Amino acid sequence: MTDKYEDRIETILANMTVKEKIGQLNMLRYEEGEEQEQQLRDGLVGTYIGVSKSDVANHLQQVATEETANQIPLLFGLDVIHGRHTIFPIPLAEACCWDDDVFEKTAEIAAKEATEDGVNWTFAPMLDVVRDARWGRVAESAGEDPYLLSRYARAKVKGFQGEDVSAKDRVLACAKHFVAYGSAVGGRDYNGTSMSIQTLWDTYMPPFMAATEAGVATYMTAFQELNGTPCSTSEYLFRDVLRKMWKFNGIVVSDDGAVQECVSHGVAETRKDAAELCLNAGVDIDMEDLVYIEYLEELIEEGKVSMEVLDESVRNVLRVKFAKGLFDNPYVEPKTRADDDISKENRAYAREVARKSIVLMKNNGILPISRKQKLVVLGELADSGLDMLGTWVLEEKPHTVVTLVQALKEQNIDFTYEVCTGPKKAFDKEAFEHAVCDADLVIAAVGETALMSGEASSRCNIDLPGGQKDMLEALQKKQIPFVTVLFNGRPLAIKDVAEWSPAIVEAWALGIEAGNAVADVLFGDYNPSGRLTMTFPNYSGECPVYYNHNNTGRPADEKMELSSKYTDAPIEPLYPFGYGLSYTNYEYSDLKAEMKENCIYAEATVTNVGDMDGEETVQVYIRDKVASYARPVKELKDYKKVHLGAGESKRVCFEIDIQNLGFYNMKLEYVVEPGEFEVFVGHDSTTTLSNVVRYEQ
Ligand code: BGC
Repeated sequence: MTDKYEDRIETILANMTVKEKIGQLNMLRYEEGEEQEQQLRDGLVGTYIGVSKSDVANHLQQVATEETANQIPLLFGLDVIHGRHTIFPIPLAEACCWDDDVFEKTAEIAAKEATEDGVNWTFAPMLDVVRDARWGRVAESAGEDPYLLSRYARAKVKGFQGEDVSAKDRVLACAKHFVAYGSAVGGRDYNGTSMSIQTLWDTYMPPFMAATEAGVATYMTAFQELNGTPCSTSEYLFRDVLRKMWKFNGIVVSDDGAVQECVSHGVAETRKDAAELCLNAGVDIDMEDLVYIEYLEELIEEGKVSMEVLDESVRNVLRVKFAKGLFDNPYVEPKTRADDDISKENRAYAREVARKSIVLMKNNGILPISRKQKLVVLGELADSGLDMLGTWVLEEKPHTVVTLVQALKEQNIDFTYEVCTGPKKAFDKEAFEHAVCDADLVIAAVGETALMSGEASSRCNIDLPGGQKDMLEALQKKQIPFVTVLFNGRPLAIKDVAEWSPAIVEAWALGIEAGNAVADVLFGDYNPSGRLTMTFPNYSGECPVYYNHNNTGRPADEKMELSSKYTDAPIEPLYPFGYGLSYTNYEYSDLKAEMKENCIYAEATVTNVGDMDGEETVQVYIRDKVASYARPVKELKDYKKVHLGAGESKRVCFEIDIQNLGFYNMKLEYVVEPGEFEVFVGHDSTTTLSNVVRYEQ
């Protein structure tokens, strides 16, 4: 964050009362009315959550900048997670594009639409590494891999903030939730986390480090406790890591309620103690708890919080407000938006991203399907606009969504539709029998409702809910050809379904163009190219499951009784990280990997051996063969997307800086140890095409 406004910040600070300073650290949830407005006039509010109309934003800015003593403009924060009006796929789906340009552009579009509503700060990107599909918030993340999440972090920060965040159409981004929230024990939301300091640094920190390097303006704390310390009270995280090590000079905001929750955590006796702990730890803004505004003055008088600490936090807030350009112009163009006002270009882009996010998980050759047959569509999710939007859509407008049923109608496809079952509906056998009696092919739309994933939506059994499984089993028993289309916000444990289904299309919650995107894939108008960024387990009990685990002393071996495996589940997960099929096949050959100065240089030939053009995501993994600590069996280090015409070959090259091959030791030093690295190139994380290179220091 630019530091060119420091003199102006000091001038403002010098004129502020203690109460006004505290006001800058107070975030209110916006409510219309004189009472809140008076608080604003009195200088007791610095930021709002929940303002989402340009006229409201402009009015509040006018009060703040014309009717308060210090005339400090306001920040308006909102959760603009995967689009504001143009709703794109949920982050876990979008991540399957493995496309940095997509990550950036969807954020850019979201930023523009948000600013038109007066929003100048989004609470995104969520950068939690997620390894446990039971945790509902996996839907908001880009998945289990720290490297992919780091690229995602950079692209998102750039997309939201642009080159210059003061531009009218850009918003401040917020890296959240700092940190390790994604490793909640048992996948239960808000639950505690416990991990070695090395795991924290090797796995959970890198995406945040990347966001900081990309210039993210703000950070949000995580709700949970990490190794016994609630994150919002961690001096280590905010003062040592963020401020001292990473030189971060933006805002740290508490998650909503996280300050007062220190009382429930049992590290503060009262709300007042919680305020003392959090501000001293370096949490600048109290989101909605009203704890700072109530107690900080007293705490300062009592000497429990120093003026230096208070001033420092106020400086952070003012610095961000200056950087956003609000002191020069706090207002936005007034805009009233029609309810379904989504531009043609944005809608077209939403369709492009949605179809790129789809992962073809199984295909016995039934796909793509021909339009000229008796098609029957089953399942409530085939026509549920609301569920296509997914989690974190604040103003749900299901009428802006093209569902699968609508898409098929618009394409004049001859089909019949019957609900039969849904995520919360039992299986209606009678309706089913009637619907499928003369079907050539069934499209079975099954999965989760939008609210089955997201915050506080952890599930213990991540099977298909409701009567949906019964329906798929009935289809299989009747030997009717069918395609399973999954709409869901997390990896599901669907071993049976995978066995029964001739084909599976993973369609997540794809946003406003969900139906068109799915139809594009089903009929072969788009050759699916998405790749999973989270492992699919066979059974819920395998969670957490992820590809980049350390080896054990007894690696899983089918033939060895005393090896690391379950006795009642396969060794391999259902679908691995990086996995995804297409309507063509790619072959890899001639891998050549070598050390060149400080880089591993790897190149391989990829050939499209099928008869359809396609887009392949070439993935590079390494394994540090012998190190002073146990290292992951594989770690993603780079990826590239290549377009290959039918029959076409391309040589794809990678250069991996040796500095990216290290890890943190017990003394928290980042070390790259000499020795052998196995370099893998291929289609997904199970690739075995490898060369060994030796790094000599
Ligand atoms: C969530 C955050 C979100 C905040 C504000 C919290 O409950 O954990 O991710 O940004 O609410 O809506």
